[in-house]
Amino acid sequence: MRKKIVAGNWKMNKTMAEAQALASEVMGMISSEVNSSAIVVLCVPFPYLPVIKYQLGKSVVKVGAQNCSEYDSGAYTGEVSALMLKSMEIPYVILGHSERRQYFGEDGKLLAKKIDKALAAQLTPIFCCGEPLEIREAGTHEKLVKQQVEEALFHLPAEAAQKIVIAYEPVWAIGTGKTATSQQAQEMHAVIRKHLASKYSSEVASSISILYGGSVKADNAKELFSCPDVDGGLVGGASLKSREFVDIAKAMG
Ligand code: PGA
Repeated sequence: MRKKIVAGNWKMNKTMAEAQALASEVMGMISSEVNSSAIVVLCVPFPYLPVIKYQLGKSVVKVGAQNCSEYDSGAYTGEVSALMLKSMEIPYVILGHSERRQYFGEDGKLLAKKIDKALAAQLTPIFCCGEPLEIREAGTHEKLVKQQVEEALFHLPAEAAQKIVIAYEPVWAIGTGKTATSQQAQEMHAVIRKHLASKYSSEVASSISILYGGSVKADNAKELFSCPDVDGGLVGGASLKSREFVDIAKAMG
């Protein structure tokens, strides 16, 4: 059975002290208020990873990174490898976020390499896909998202593909306050799952968690999470406020 996951993407926000305070609030509220099988992950900036991981200890809240290199090691100033994350026992890494695609030129070919490195280091990649507004308006969003999934994932054998978590994040909904309707989310999640089934099998496709991301808030989370193909959320802005984020995790049921 596929897992239910609520992941916070803190992006490039918070000082060290603020990050520690937020993590500790989230951990406290999750342990006292949330009694579900959903996995809660905080994807924090690189320098905070070991500190937050230590702080979370054996809590049910897990930590994740927001990116990793396509290389193992070497003269790549400023980069962080999947092996480094593995050596710190970081279980999750976001790959292919639309901000990485847009501002750092990441494309499918590069992301396929990063996915391979993350899997080789036994990390769980949270692979992001999703269309910009102009593609949605042109009506070619299904084609683009299927292509993004193919380029980054379809070289994987079935066993490896099952280790991926996918996040469908329409770019027009990220940070805009304009969330996809639950019908739009469900439609695209079903398209992605069907595409995975056509490449692998319906068993493999139904074992892969597909999260929705894009202006998820406490007041829209329940409806989004109730869609049959939505297995949780990747939450940006709302993950920076402990009360809001924990309420989203609660909506996972
Ligand atoms: P948002 O960001 O929740 O602020 O829209 C989501 C994301 O970028 O993962």
